[in-house]
Formats: sequence, C-alpha cells, structure tokens
Amino acid sequence: MAKGFKITLAGESISFWAEPGLTILRASLRGGGGLLSSCRNGTCRACRCQLQAGEVSYLIEWPGLSAEEKAAGWILPCVAQAHSDLILLRPAA
Ligand code: FES
Repeated sequence: MAKGFKITLAGESISFWAEPGLTILRASLRGGGGLLSSCRNGTCRACRCQLQAGEVSYLIEWPGLSAEEKAAGWILPCVAQAHSDLILLRPAA
C-alpha cells in the first residue's frame, strides 16, 4: 500500500507521511509531526506553515489567508492536502 507523500518540516529533522485523503494536519498528528492546531477548519490560523516545496490543494474555497500570504507560500494544513512531497516551514515561535 502506498504511503502517500512525504512531508518534511524544514530545519527540524522531522518528517511524516500524508496518506491519500488526509489533511496535512491529520497526517502530522498521526505521524508525529506535531503541527499546532485549534479550530481545524481553516479559521484560527494556528496551524499556519510556509510551503517551501511541493503542491497542495484545499478542501474549502476560503482558507483564512490573504492573497499576499498565499503568494508568499503560507498554507493552512488543517484544510489542505498534499499533492506531492512537501517541505514546510513552521513560523518562528
Ligand atoms: S487549525 Fe485553525 S486554521 Fe488550521
């Protein structure tokens, strides 16, 4: 059975697999990636990460990011699915 796509957290030596049909956040929680979350519906932005490599799609049309943030590569993993291997950068604490 295919594992899906490999997701790596840049600079953290952490990676996990995103099985088909799982959001990136759910894959993180299953695979030990430990992404932060709260609402899990694209509203609170707690899970926000910057996409450094790869492709994602959204489950909803209105992920809570501005056009500028999207252009800069910010994504919301709770409502996004991987469409390739990904490299994500978490915001600085
Ligand atoms: S957990 Fe709230 S936007 Fe992702």
